[in-house]
Amino acid sequence: MAEPLRIGIAGLGTVGAATVDLLRRNAASIAARAGRPLEVVAVSARDRRRDRGVDLTSLEWFDDPVALARAPGIDCVVELMGGSDGPAKATVEAALGAGRAVVTANKALLARHGAALAALAEAKGAGLFFEASVAGGIPIVKALRESLAGNAITRVSGILNGTCNYILSRMELEGLGFAEVLADAQRLGYAEADPTFDVGGFDTAHKLAVLTSLAFGVEIDADAIHVEGISAITPLDLKMADDLGYRIKLLGVAERTATGIEQRVHPTMVPKTRPIAQVMGVTNAVTVSADAVGELTLVGPGAGGNATASSVMSDLVDVARGVTVAPFGRPSASLEKAERMPMQRHEGGYYIRLSALDRPGAAAGIATRMAEKQISLESIVQRRPSGASTDRSGRSGTPVPVVLITYATTEAAIRAALDAVLADGHIAEPAQLIRIERDLD
Ligand code: NAP
Ligand code: HSE
Repeated sequence: MAEPLRIGIAGLGTVGAATVDLLRRNAASIAARAGRPLEVVAVSARDRRRDRGVDLTSLEWFDDPVALARAPGIDCVVELMGGSDGPAKATVEAALGAGRAVVTANKALLARHGAALAALAEAKGAGLFFEASVAGGIPIVKALRESLAGNAITRVSGILNGTCNYILSRMELEGLGFAEVLADAQRLGYAEADPTFDVGGFDTAHKLAVLTSLAFGVEIDADAIHVEGISAITPLDLKMADDLGYRIKLLGVAERTATGIEQRVHPTMVPKTRPIAQVMGVTNAVTVSADAVGELTLVGPGAGGNATASSVMSDLVDVARGVTVAPFGRPSASLEKAERMPMQRHEGGYYIRLSALDRPGAAAGIATRMAEKQISLESIVQRRPSGASTDRSGRSGTPVPVVLITYATTEAAIRAALDAVLADGHIAEPAQLIRIERDLD
């Protein structure tokens, strides 16, 4: 048998421990596919005494992951610590600098430093692989970099964060509270070390930045993305969406338009009849639209140790086989700069929930402001809070939720109309606004 690939793993948490376990469990079939054995020879984590559910006794231990990256006798370094800077960046730079292949699941690192790391990898003739960085177990990185290399891609979109989809699904189906479900996602190993990255939409943006670079040949740049998370989504919004025939999903969308590549991450109402609305729990789904293949959707587990280890392993097999490929599918010097597209130009339908003051002329005033901006309304729904008392005219004196669903319009028109409604004093607080995507497959 050929020489083994000697692997050093930095980070032994949810993904790191699952990777060690998977490599041992399927060692024979992995070696057969790779043409040589894959052996973990060294590991690094912060706490040496912690039980990680895998036997580490035969492995060399490093307190310092950078020392592991430079240690003799290691062919490939797997970075599974997380974080855009600090030890993760130092470890990857040290390994690439030493001409060693790197496998990482760290989208935060790639989103911030991917361009420089890809250039370093190319300069040193070292591989930089990151299948596990996007959508957990779904092989979307290789699909874009290799399988779809013959296509002109027009759009990549989908559910890219397992934690958020898990939270929205359980809030809607089980009526549970946001904090309770987030705690479950953390316990199950889905959430980032700082879950703000998940619920704030930043993790989805990091992944979208990776996909945009691979799909459109632009330099990875998360700052070019408009980002909104799910923290402001209330049970009332989920209920209203359900009543109106929609589900709320956190989507990442990158699309080539006449004026550039639009990149956005935000909660989105999708018709319940569309396949993407059926993607529930920790499952992710990525849809690619391209000229030759048409439309392609990959669906699978978006987070969790085993699913993510599966993606790490696919990269390790590539390294063992001696595969060389530019990290973002083409030489990094040829990647173009991504421009940030102003969200004001976005066109689509909108769900607008207003806390309207229950007084004469409020509804008419709101409708007038919409009409002034040529916004056509598909429906208006007014819900009096249950238990609210009313006077003889039937008014409660307290704010009443009013939901408007618009036909396609521009974000600029919606924002201007809502500013006017707020200035008129018809609403008690700024509007809740959720974009609608009606044409998804
Ligand atoms: P995790 O459970 O928090 O594990 C992080 C590991 O890194 C821990 O073992 C920790 O050591 C180690 N570590 C942190 N700082 C270190 C340092 N300075 N030196 C040495 N070791 C250090 O994280 P995870 O969920 O496995 O995620 C790891 C990476 O995979 C992240 O980039 C994440 O975004 C990405 N990812 C995660 C998932 C998922 O479902 N969890 C899916 C896809 C991608 P201790 O254990 O001793 O504290
Ligand atoms: N926290 C991430 C998620 C892990 O929930 O999708 C997978 O990248």
